[in-house]
Amino acid sequence: MSTNEKRLAGEAAIRYVEDGAIVGVGTGSTVAYFIEALAGIRQRINGAVSSSEQSTALLRKHGIPVLDLNATGPLSLYVDGADECDAHKRLIKGGGAALTREKIIAEASSRFVCIIDSSKRVNLLGKFPLPIEVIPMARSLVGREIVKRGGQPVWRDGVVTDNGNWVIDVHGWQITDPVGLETELNQIPGIVTVGLFARRPADIVLVGDKEI
Ligand code: A5P
Repeated sequence: MSTNEKRLAGEAAIRYVEDGAIVGVGTGSTVAYFIEALAGIRQRINGAVSSSEQSTALLRKHGIPVLDLNATGPLSLYVDGADECDAHKRLIKGGGAALTREKIIAEASSRFVCIIDSSKRVNLLGKFPLPIEVIPMARSLVGREIVKRGGQPVWRDGVVTDNGNWVIDVHGWQITDPVGLETELNQIPGIVTVGLFARRPADIVLVGDKEI
């Protein structure tokens, strides 16, 4: 992991912010650098839509208005980090447990700029345990469904998401068909969000300040 690359990526993403935009903002340590950089041009934007309580607090601390996605309509830009990124810009996200709101904003945005350091690049997704947000009463049910599919579910004990749900991290999957797996898992009752961003991958990936 390179802190310097994270900072460079966060700063480089500013070049995609257009004047007057309402910017979708992700969650995590890389995004924290983006928020800092965004603060420097806050007079040029019309605010942000936030993917987590953590990012909301940071945005407000920097004087950037946080808006409700229901009031803004579709966004032109979403900027967020990732836990893994493959050559097709498909991602694993949710290491910070913010995956549901992140996926909602990604879907609502016409351009998704993903900011990472080079340690996040992989040939095959799955070495990073796949986060899945579940309704609490469905935890065991979802766990059994994961075991049937060859995964090892580990409950992220003690973590409650911003939506009041729980997170299961799935170890041991080599994800050869990310779109297929995301689609299949989305059918299991009790799963709120799968941390695979394959049906809606990133549009642009910045590794440090380099676009790949
Ligand atoms: C938050 O839930 C995640 O999706 C983050 O985007 C991801 O964990 C990247 O975080 P860092 O930028 O801190 O590595």
